[in-house]
This record gives sequence, structure tokens and C-alpha cells, in this order.
Amino acid sequence: MTVTRGLEGIIATTSSVSSIIDDNLTYVGYNIDDLAEHASFEEVVYLLWHRKLPNLEQLSEIKRQLAENAKIPQQVIDHFKTYPIKRVHPMAALRTAVSLLGLFDEEADDMSPEANYRKAIRLQAQLPIIVTSFARIRKGLEPIEPRTDLSMAANFLYTLLGEEPNEVAVEAFNKALVLHADHELNASTFTARVCVATLSDVYSGVTSAIGALKGPLHGGANEAVMKMLSEIGEVENVESYINEKFANKEKIMGFGHRVYRKGDPRAKHLKKMSEKLTKLTGQPKWYEMSTKIEELVTARKPLPPNVDFYSASMYHSLGIDHDLFTPIFAVSRVSGWLAHILEQYENNRLIRPRAEYVGPEKQIYIPVEQRG
Ligand SMILES: CC(C)(COP(=O)(O)OP(=O)(O)OC[C@H]1O[C@@H](n2cnc3c(N)ncnc32)[C@H](O)[C@@H]1OP(=O)(O)O)[C@@H](O)C(=O)NCCC(=O)NCCS
Repeated sequence: MTVTRGLEGIIATTSSVSSIIDDNLTYVGYNIDDLAEHASFEEVVYLLWHRKLPNLEQLSEIKRQLAENAKIPQQVIDHFKTYPIKRVHPMAALRTAVSLLGLFDEEADDMSPEANYRKAIRLQAQLPIIVTSFARIRKGLEPIEPRTDLSMAANFLYTLLGEEPNEVAVEAFNKALVLHADHELNASTFTARVCVATLSDVYSGVTSAIGALKGPLHGGANEAVMKMLSEIGEVENVESYINEKFANKEKIMGFGHRVYRKGDPRAKHLKKMSEKLTKLTGQPKWYEMSTKIEELVTARKPLPPNVDFYSASMYHSLGIDHDLFTPIFAVSRVSGWLAHILEQYENNRLIRPRAEYVGPEKQIYIPVEQRG
């Protein structure tokens, strides 16, 4: 047996959803740079689920379906109101809410491809509203109903902040959604596929994926980046902070990647939007601190920034609470999880690797009363 810790480099399945080859990320063969510049998030959702870009009619149909299914059950709202709301992390609330959604979906255990697609639409439509509703309820505010005339990017900001966002904010947020939508066999997608490969249901798959995304080595890194920026506070503190991190052999959040070596192709788009938005909102220091950190980290180690690094300052400048950064990742990545879940069902085989046993052997059972 050869053990590959962290399954690094192991090809565990075939997939036609997305690929990372030579540091290039594509969704169904479309380069992420093109999609980030030109595509709406709704187009990307269609692309991932149908493995082709929609024509105008198909796009307006999926937009209609998403808009019509965005309202979340009242029971989910009522449930939020019972939480110890001040200390519940929104990722934990989202994880529970998705599981709860399954209880109220009459088709939860219908495994037909048609029912699974309808559930995918409902989950994609409702995840953003779960996040924004929770964010408002914990502040004592009423949730806002999504509008049918706004894009998913605009609706997220509208239902979170209570006012129609400006064009730059929508552009930035749409780009972030497009860039986070899928990423080959990342940890949360793998989790989702392992779960549904037992032929468990879509809600179980997405709930387990949210659990995996929550950790700071995966989706939780964007919140951790903002925590670091807040701790640093000012550009002049960056150097000593980073030196100390290296001296203590601590990881710098938002840097490094299991797959990319030269760099994460998503980071440059978020860097540009971070620069634009932080300037526009009169808070350039967050961008300046970020570039200084990048300069210092990359001078010491071949560790380019990843998708989480510049998204932090960008979301902050949009007025979004820091603990909502990872839920936003989920709002986008659920499109990829669902694409992979549907793909797994199409050609399923149980995922069950092995472990090399390294524990004691040939132990003799001693009754409990005789044990020392
Ligand atoms: C993404 C990540 C989990 C990949 O992990 P991995 O492939 O298992 O790589 P490792 O953690 O084994 O790191 C390999 C080496 O690079 C170093 N390294 C990796 N990421 C680092 C970081 N962010 N800061 C400082 N050093 C880092 C490790 O210390 C290790 O060094 P060593 O060989 O001298 O011990 C890792 O880079 C990380 O923890 N990054 C910070 C969290 C983050 O931004 N996550 C979001 C990913 S999109």
C-alpha cells in the first residue's frame, strides 16, 4: 500500500464540469478569464449544470426558475429566531438551514434526474436568501424578499443591505460569484461527491459540502484574511506582522494552494476589483495593505495569493460583515457542488478508499473489571 497524505495528486474520478491544467482553470472548457470578464453568474450556473452555455431563451428560462424559487420557507426564518444568534457563525446557520430545507421539500428523496434538477434550482435560488435573511435577523432586522427583476448578484446585495446596489458593486459581486463557482475536485466538492455516491440525497450532499467549506484551510480563509488585515490595521504595520508570522512558522491566510504552482488565475480579477472598490469607497488602505503583504510573502516563499486573498478586502469595501465572506463562497460554490452531485448520480460508484493501519496489533481483550 502506498499512502498519499491529503490525497495529493490522486485522480479520484473523471469529470466534465471544470478543469485545472497547467494553472489554467476552465469551466466546461471555457477559460475562467473569459467568463470573469463577460459572463453573468446565471450563465455560469447553466453552463455547469448543462455543460453548454445557454442561448437567450435558455438563459431567461433559468433566470425565471431561479427567481421564482428564491423565497425560503417561513419555517427556516422562524428557526433562525430560536438560535443563540450572537454566537452562531453564519456558516453553521447555513449548514443547518440547508438540512432544514430538505425537511420541507416533498421531493427531497425523489432521486429521479428531473426531481434532482428541480432541487438544484431551489437550492441555488434559496442559498443566497438564507444567508442574507440570517444576516438581517441577527441584527434585529426583517429579511427582505428578493426582487424578480434583479440579477443574482444584485439581489444578494439588495436583500443583504436593503438598497439597490450600484453598477460597480454588482459587477464586482457578479465576478466573485463567477470565479468561485467551481474548482474541480476541491475539498468541499469531493465531500459532496463522497456523500451522494452512497446514493444519499442532494440536501445531504450540499449540507456536508458546507461543513467542509467552513474550515479555514478551505473557504474559511477569506474571513481569516480579513481578520489578519484588521489586526494589522495600517500599511506601516504590515512588515513587522508578516516577519513575525514567518518567525513563528505560522501560515499566512490567503496564500498557497494544493494545485496551483505559479498562481491562482482567479486572484488577479479579484485584485483588480479590490483596487477599484476600495478606492471608490474611500478605503484604499485595505488594498494597499494587501499588495504589501503579497510583495513580502512572495519575496520569501513561492506562495502566490489565492482566490481568498483579495476577495476579503473587496467584500469588506462592499460593506459586508466579515463572517459572511465564507457563506458568500457557498452561495457561489453550491452551483459547482450541484453540478458535481448531478454528474456523480449520472455514473455512480461508491467512493471508498483504504487506510493503512498503523495501530497496535494482536491485542488481547481483558474484561473491564480487570483493566488497570
Ligand atoms: C491551501 C493550503 C491548505 C494547501 O495546503 P497543502 O497543499 O497541504 O500545503 P502545505 O500546507 O503542506 O504547505 C506546503 C509548504 O508550504 C508552506 N505554506 C503553505 N501555505 C502557506 C501559507 N499560507 N503561509 C505560509 N506557508 C505556507 C507550508 O508551511 C509548507 O512548508 P514546509 O514544506 O516548509 O513545511 C495551504 O497553502 C494553506 O494552508 N494556505 C492558507 C489557507 C488558505 O488560504 N486556504 C485557501 C485555499 S484556496
